[in-house]
Order: sequence, then structure tokens, then C-alpha cells
Amino acid sequence: MAITGRPKVSVIGAGHVGSTLAMRIAEAALADVVLVDIVEGMPQGKALDLSQSRPVVLNDVSIVGTNDYADIAGSDMVITTAGVPRKPGMSRDDLIEINGKIAVTMAENIKKYAPDAFIIQVANPLDAITYVISEITGTPKNKIMGMAGVLDSSRYRFFIADALGVSVKDVQGVVLGGHGDTMVPLPRFTWVGGAPLPDVMPADQIEAIVERTRKGGAEIVGLLKTGSAYYAPSAGAFEMAKAIIKDEKRILPVAAYLNGEYGISGLFVGVPVILGKDGIEKIWQLPLSDEELSALKNSANHVKALVDKVNELGILG
Ligand code: APR
Repeated sequence: MAITGRPKVSVIGAGHVGSTLAMRIAEAALADVVLVDIVEGMPQGKALDLSQSRPVVLNDVSIVGTNDYADIAGSDMVITTAGVPRKPGMSRDDLIEINGKIAVTMAENIKKYAPDAFIIQVANPLDAITYVISEITGTPKNKIMGMAGVLDSSRYRFFIADALGVSVKDVQGVVLGGHGDTMVPLPRFTWVGGAPLPDVMPADQIEAIVERTRKGGAEIVGLLKTGSAYYAPSAGAFEMAKAIIKDEKRILPVAAYLNGEYGISGLFVGVPVILGKDGIEKIWQLPLSDEELSALKNSANHVKALVDKVNELGILG
């Protein structure tokens, strides 16, 4: 069912990703925003600061900060960003125990207060945390998804555009798989001004960009030293939220629950989907080669190992 009237989007976690995302949503006047965090005063302060920019950036949405999960009631969409970011040297997977427990809190509150909301999940490790939230909320699989493929593809497209000296607007490309070192950038499905990437860039340069994309988040963690990326991650979540709210029918890579598509079952893994008013309206099947498919399955196996760890650790209770 389509969202009617002015949408309400709750963003859980008012840290770097959450507050930047709230700003993107408000500045596009996409929805009213509720920012939730456990730190007292912080989401309220950020919401007030954002509200005070409204007469200058000119939007009429409401932006509310709160420590009370009850305020997410009636949300059309909840975007989950609460979690600890990694430190230099850590992998996203190292966050599973701490962020898994935070995810349980988020999920229990979504189930209690906003059970009908679409869920876009952003906290890391992305695919396994999406599994945790899905298990607890029981949200229909078309309405829950993780944000990573849009981010990974955006990093990949930026590196290509930058290397070739062309506009980012003219580079189309997709990264599949889990949001980690096993992600699968697809040069064969990457186009620069209509030309296939392998025709306009030497293989060793493509391989270097693929590798840099896989390590794209870690490169930023290493530079920032405290915290991880948030401008590009929030842009990715915003693009997905907009595609659903505006019923755009975008084909975007998201962590979607697979039921045999691409030969993968029972896992959230990054694949292209059609995103519109019903959330994931269709899994988009790319004609992958055997080699590409096996890279995707390898990535899915990695996600499966992390999901097994979630169960071993008893995170779901
Ligand atoms: N409920 C609500 N908010 C919480 C909870 C909770 N149970 N636990 C922690 N938080 C809040 C923190 O208080 C903090 O403000 O989540 C926020 C996280 O913000 P940052 O530390 O700035 O982290 P950020 O960079 O936004 O990353 C958040 O997204 O990209 C991923 O790997 C990243 O998992 C991390 C998440």
C-alpha cells in the first residue's frame, strides 16, 4: 500500500549517519522526521538546530528529536542507524555483538510502536543486522531491506568517473553481495557513456578500482580515526527512502531477502531490486556469468557465517 499524506520517517540513531540523513530528508521536504537516540538532549538539540535552518533552506516539514521510542508511532518508514561505528583496523563484522544487541532494542521498539513501517537498515555489519531486525519485527520481506549496495555502487562509480575524468552522471554500475570485503563489483555491467567499462579502461586499473571499492569504508575509517563514513551512507539511505515514498520504480542494489533468486535462499544479500510504493517490488535478475555468480555465492556464504554467529551468540534471545 502506498504512503498517503505527508509521510513520517523515523531515524533511529541521531549520530553522524542518522543526523545527516535527517538533514537530507528535511532539505528535500521528503517527510516529517523523528530523530531517536538514547543520549539525552542530543536528538532534541539536533532537531532544533535543523528546524532553525528551515526558514533559510525553505521547507515545511516537522523535525522532532526524542529519547522516547513511543514517538515513532505511526511512522511510514523507520531507518535504523543506531550502532557503534568501527575503529581503524576493525572490520564491520567485529561489530556484530555490540551492534546486534542495539539492533534488538531497535527492532523490539519498531515492533511495538511502528509495526507497519517500511524498514531501511543501515547499521553494520549490514546484512546480519538486517537479519536480526527482520527476525524480531517479522516485517514482510518486501518492506525490510538493508542499505549498502547503493553506497558501494556510488563509491565504485565515483572512482571510475574520477579516473576517466568524466561526469559521475554518465557512469552506471552496480555492486552486489554482502557489505564487506567479499562484495562483488560487476565491471561487465558497468557503463560509461554507453560503453562497457572493460572497453574504456585497462583491466589492471579496473581491478585497482574494484579493490579500492571493497576497502572504501576502511579507507575513510583510517583517515577519520574516530568514526566511519556518513555523507555517502546517508545519501544511499536517502535515495532508497525517496524511491519508495515517491514510488519511483528505481532499480537499485539493496540487501534483500532472497528466496532462491540467484541460487541463494534465506539470507539478506545485496542484489538489484525494483523499489517503489510496495518496497521491494521485484528482485531484478542480472544474467550473471558462472564466475560472477560464484563470487556472489561466496559473498552470501560470508553473510551466512555471520548470521550463524548471531545465533551462536544468542543475540536474538
Ligand atoms: N537506541 C537509539 N540510539 C542508540 C542506541 C539505541 N539503543 N544505541 C546507540 N545509539 C546511538 C548512539 O547514541 C549514537 O548517537 O546511535 C548513534 C550512532 O551514531 P555514531 O556513533 O555517530 O555512528 P554513525 O557514524 O552514525 O554510524 C552508525 O551506521 O554506517 C554504520 O557502521 C556504522 O553501525 C554504524 C552505524
